Parts: sequence; structure tokens; C-alpha cells
Amino acid sequence: MNKSKSSGFISDILITWYNNHKRDLPWREINNPYLIWISEIILQQTRVNQGIAYYLRFVERFPTVDMLAEAEEDEVLKYWQGLGYYSRARNLHKAACQMINESGGVFPTKHSEVLKLAGVGEYTAAAICSFAYNEPYAVVDGNVYRVLSRLFSIDTPIDSGVGKKEFTHLAQDLLSKSEPALHNQALMEFGALQCVPASPDCANCPLQSICKAFESDLIGILPVKKQKTKVTNRFFNYLFVEYQGYTYLQKRLAKDIWLNLYEFPLIETENLLNPEELPDNDDFKRLFDGIDVVEFHKISNPMKHVLSHRVIYAQFFSLKVSGLSENLKNIIQVPIREIDIYPVSRLMELFLQNRKE
Ligand code: ADE
Ligand code: SF4
Repeated sequence: MNKSKSSGFISDILITWYNNHKRDLPWREINNPYLIWISEIILQQTRVNQGIAYYLRFVERFPTVDMLAEAEEDEVLKYWQGLGYYSRARNLHKAACQMINESGGVFPTKHSEVLKLAGVGEYTAAAICSFAYNEPYAVVDGNVYRVLSRLFSIDTPIDSGVGKKEFTHLAQDLLSKSEPALHNQALMEFGALQCVPASPDCANCPLQSICKAFESDLIGILPVKKQKTKVTNRFFNYLFVEYQGYTYLQKRLAKDIWLNLYEFPLIETENLLNPEELPDNDDFKRLFDGIDVVEFHKISNPMKHVLSHRVIYAQFFSLKVSGLSENLKNIIQVPIREIDIYPVSRLMELFLQNRKE
């Protein structure tokens, strides 16, 4: 059976399978583009089970473009706390403001306009336009790469430009033009539940008879990726400074994943330091220049935080000080009991939770 002959056939099978197996999820069976957008952004780098609670809380607090645009970015980040990849939340807020300015808060309906929203790429635009407007744009996410690479036994690396083009073409060819929303959801759900990364359930698969990877026993090596991303280690020493019932937080301005989140004053080092080495560190001396550090001890074992491109080793130190240096004064003073108001990284959150227990 060649590809073009089997495409309608594949779509029909996927949709039948979907109707029997789909999970009941809060963003299903709706066609509100705003809600679909929020759910898709959450689900980009988050597992469905974790995403549900975040989605429900987020859309309860920010049910419309207007409500999201009117909020402070700090609050939006607070609702995102723990989900990671915070640029997603910053971009949601930015895009909501964009919509207020450009269309009075009306969600764009044209694919080309949807693509212009901050943080919206090909995948998200296709998801929004197909799920909300039933337009024929094929979604291509990790699930789709996996299913298609196996069905057609394609070993082009999925993280290459060529691979991206090839799979996008194929997905678009296969797409049901009469039921694009249903087809897209069916294909993604099939990848999420049936044709899973390790040990897919081929024995009970409705596409087994046409699956090239099954026929050639290539399931274990498909999809192919070029290279694993290189992982670098970073070492963070956080300082929980206490002075007269206050502690000190700084808003992270480095243009990285934690941009605009709050954290304790941070000293980054080349290695994990011993507590006695820290007072000799230049950054440490700069922060506490001329100040009497009354009490100083390490209060956490190194915590390992694994992100996609880095592993962060963090340790927290407690310092009680007799006064403030100019360099500390530039940092926000926060009453210790009010720390929880600020959006923080998962690392900070874990530390703060342990501290309460
Ligand atoms: N992953 C990405 N989008 C999804 C959706 N709409 N439903 C389930 N899983 C998803
Ligand atoms: Fe995936 Fe196995 Fe079905 Fe092929 S036979 S589509 S590898 S579950």
C-alpha cells in the first residue's frame, strides 16, 4: 500500500482508535482559542498529569485575554511556579498585551496572525488553528515524529532541519482535510498512549499491519536523533541573609530560563565550595564588605536540579548580619514571612518548603 492510498485509511483508524481510548482532559471538546492556547503552551514541556492542575488554576485566575493582560507579570509567573521554562509564562503575558493593543483583546483567527503571537511557533499555531477553528494545519510534536517515523520507517534525524521539513510534509499529507481537529488530536493521543517511546503496545495496535518499523523490527531505534544535547554543570551558592526580620531577594535579570524570577543573593562558583571557602570568595566579600557576619552556616546539602541543558548543584547558606552593606541595599528587602508572595524557581521553592517543615 503506498502512502497516498493509505493516508485516509490511517486517519480513519486513528480516529476510531481515538474515540475508544482518548483521555478525558479539561481542554478537550472546547473550541475557545484562548483556552486552547494556554493548554498547548503548558503542555509543550510538561506532562499531561502535571499540566492539568496548572491549567485549571491558571484559567480560573486568567479566564480571558483581558484578565491575563491586566495582571502583573509577577503574578503570572507565580501561577507558573514549579512548571519550569518560564519564558512560556512571560510570553503568554506579552502575547496577551499584544492582543489588547492590536485587536482590542480579540484572539486572532488567521494562521499567519496567530503565528505572530509571542511564544507561538509552528506547532502551537497549528494546534490552535486546527483545534479551535478546524483548519487543516497538521501538528508536529514529539508524539507525531515518533509515530510517523515508525509507521513509515524514516530514519532522518527529527532534530535536523531536513527532518523537520520531511515530517511536516508527511504529516500534512496524512491530515484529514475534513476532520483536521479530530485527526490531529487522535495522532497525538496515539503517540502518547499507544505508540509510546519505550515498549509500544504493538501487539494490540490497529496500525500494526501497515507499520514499517514493526515489519522490520526497527521500533527500538526510531525515531533517530542527531546528538544528545551537551549538559553543563553549574554551581550555585544561595545566601539566605537575615537582618531584623528581613531577608533579601533579587529579581533575576540574566536572559535565561529564570528571567524575572526572584532568588536569594547568589554566588556562582566553578565547583561546589566548602562552607569555609565561601567567605574568601570575591563576590561574597563584595556583598558583605565591612559587615559583621554574626552567624554563618550551610543549611542544605547540595541539591541537584536537572534541566534540559544543565545540571545545577545548589547549596543554601544561612547568614545573620549586624548591618547592611551598600551592595545588599540594592537588593529587595522582604519581610521573611512574606517570601511566599514572590515567584521563585523550583529550587528556591523546595528550599523554602523544607525550611517550614
Ligand atoms: N500534548 C500537547 N497537546 C496536547 C493535548 N491537546 N492533549 C493531550 N496532550 C497534549
Ligand atoms: Fe507504533 Fe508498534 Fe503500532 Fe507501529 S505497530 S504504530 S511501532 S505501536
